[in-house]
Amino acid sequence: MAEVGRIVAGALAPHPPHLVYADNPPQNEPTAECGWETLRWGYERMRKALDAVDYDVIVVLSPHWQTYVGTHFLGVPHFKSLSVDPVFPNLFRFHYDLDVDVPLAEAIHGEAQAAGLVSKMMRNPDFRVDYGTIVSCHLTRPAWDKPIVGISSCRSTAFYSVEVMQEQAKALGEATRRAIEASGRRALLLASNSLSHRHFTTESAVPEDMSQEHIMNHSQYLWDMRFIDLLRQGHAQQVIDEMPEFVSQAISEADAGALTWMLQAMGVPDYPGELFGYGTVIGTGNAVMSWIPEEQGA
Ligand SMILES: [Fe+2]
Repeated sequence: MAEVGRIVAGALAPHPPHLVYADNPPQNEPTAECGWETLRWGYERMRKALDAVDYDVIVVLSPHWQTYVGTHFLGVPHFKSLSVDPVFPNLFRFHYDLDVDVPLAEAIHGEAQAAGLVSKMMRNPDFRVDYGTIVSCHLTRPAWDKPIVGISSCRSTAFYSVEVMQEQAKALGEATRRAIEASGRRALLLASNSLSHRHFTTESAVPEDMSQEHIMNHSQYLWDMRFIDLLRQGHAQQVIDEMPEFVSQAISEADAGALTWMLQAMGVPDYPGELFGYGTVIGTGNAVMSWIPEEQGA
């Protein structure tokens, strides 16, 4: 009998391309002097924490793979190409080379369809993987030695409302958990998003000039602190319940459903998330956090 699969960890793994730029990995063409250290050191600490967890696959939901008819899943075993951030081509031109766990993607797709969600496997071998998926996976696991499952954002907040997004993200989270359990895999889930997301519209002459970096406004900061505080106290359900106000008032990138999906897939943790770092990137609020159920006896 096959081993029962598990979600062994979940993470809030924001994807500003600035963090990859400032890290200077060999895959990225532009180089930086420094920048956004509190977040990059936070990711470094999260990587160490996740090293203690033995996982087979990374499952990531990205706001920047935007699909307009339902949820799509990467369905090709291998992708290799150049990813250029459309807004920051000066910071992110990344040569990626990644494997996809297609059987698990198909299993989640099947569970999603069975739950009534519109979903589709993406089978185009020339598809360019979005930078949100790449940045979150790279910062979490720069070795690129684990296959991924890439899940799109179906933009139901924009087309309908946050409430519709929430219902779909919750159903997708449940489908994800069922498929992982049946697969025998040990999975790490990544919610690839910033918290508050109002951002600057101009860039300083030196992008990594940290004298220019700060939160966009105080109300955003208050929202970020509220959500981090709730998550650190184990109040994930309250975070989900307050999501409509958070998205509308802090223009949160959680509007893509990634955070709700991840928390729901993990059974809505009632134990604290571990905060590794908080920082702003072009005025947006970003937290790097993980939830590891085995450490909590959950
Ligand atoms: Fe983004």
